[in-house]
Amino acid sequence: MEISNIILLLLQMTVTWTSGYDITEAVPFVEWGEKGGRRFLAPAGTLTFDKNSMCGAPARTVGWRHPGYIHTSYLKDLWPDSLYTYRLGHRLMNGTRIWSKSYSFKASPYPGQDSLQRVVIFGDMGKAEADGSNEFNNFQPGSLNTTYQIIRDLENIDMVVHIGDICYANGYLSQWDQFTAQVEPIASTVPYMIGSGNHERDWPGTGSFYGNLDSGGECGVPAQTMFYTPAENRAKFWYATDYGMFRFCIAHTEEDWRPGTEQYKFIEQCLSSVDRQKQPWLIFLAHRVLGYSSCAYYESEGTFEEPMGREALQELWQKYKVDLAFYGHVHSYERTCPVYQSQCIVNASNHYSGPFQATTHVVVGGAGASLSEFTTSKIQWSHFTDFDHGFVKLTAFNHSSLLFEYKKSRDGNVYDHFTISRDYRDILACSIDNCPRTTLAS
Ligand SMILES: [Fe+2]
Repeated sequence: MEISNIILLLLQMTVTWTSGYDITEAVPFVEWGEKGGRRFLAPAGTLTFDKNSMCGAPARTVGWRHPGYIHTSYLKDLWPDSLYTYRLGHRLMNGTRIWSKSYSFKASPYPGQDSLQRVVIFGDMGKAEADGSNEFNNFQPGSLNTTYQIIRDLENIDMVVHIGDICYANGYLSQWDQFTAQVEPIASTVPYMIGSGNHERDWPGTGSFYGNLDSGGECGVPAQTMFYTPAENRAKFWYATDYGMFRFCIAHTEEDWRPGTEQYKFIEQCLSSVDRQKQPWLIFLAHRVLGYSSCAYYESEGTFEEPMGREALQELWQKYKVDLAFYGHVHSYERTCPVYQSQCIVNASNHYSGPFQATTHVVVGGAGASLSEFTTSKIQWSHFTDFDHGFVKLTAFNHSSLLFEYKKSRDGNVYDHFTISRDYRDILACSIDNCPRTTLAS
């Protein structure tokens, strides 16, 4: 039994794991309860998929391996911040119970609650073997370092967001098990939220926005089945999730996001519906770089972004005062100044305070896959770049103080950081292109 992720809903934890038991062989469930307290049993649902769900080769041919049975259970009515233990069970038809080892997690804070809250964010991690035997081209050299640093700091992390390019199975399905085995110490202890990237989803003629072969024929099915997300339609892979004082709006760049699409409506709804007095820290995430990147590839395209990204969305980020936008896809680290329409609205700094001015965009796709080169030109909005493996940690101390840290995977040390100090009245204040209507009547 192998846990692929636990994820967070409102005072609820969702546990997803894989086993070899079909529903005709055993009944899956979770035994859980507050540490040292009464135990409860929660039922689990079972999903799987077959070869015919794969869209092409190698997933449908030499890469196919049956994924087993994927069980999801919802642990409900949690007490905020309480410690819980749980174990996975299967009741065989002859009554025998098969148990996993025991795991634990801390329930989420009540939404809007003022307390210390820490979130790790990265993209493009993949997996690797300690003896180097896994990949024929050693594609994810930093992956084990990133995993190790997060496990080492796990007591000081409340949640992880992996924004796409999850494991690079690319149609060789057994590699999903390698990945979930690698991240299980993390994904069984804190909510492990994922986004979807080109290596999960893209396949010609299947509705992906890009018609390339990057998913190796998986066309999104393994990712959306093995990893539970609180999306209305898991195949579409965009969703909102809250943690204490944070709201995360997670987009899906492998489907169209432009104005008039279903996804654009979701993004605006997610950004506009947050109560900033409760959740002051508004974060937008997506796999491809919809904002700004000075990597050599985007420079050669002449766009410094995924084409049609910021043109479609920058007015929303500005109007709804998105603090930070994160992307993967480009395998390196980059932080912009607070930027709007490619202009720095304020100078880049290690400390921002007062009213919101513009969104800071961050590329954090260097969690494992082979690194992406930057342009050699000087780009005005690009404040800090690092050609290395790493990840970001956000620490909300309270409603008015947020710390951003970029850490290298090789040593876990901080190489870039800044803080934001902002009161609620500062959020209500407006700047360019985000002023609400007022009336002269009184
Ligand atoms: Fe990617």
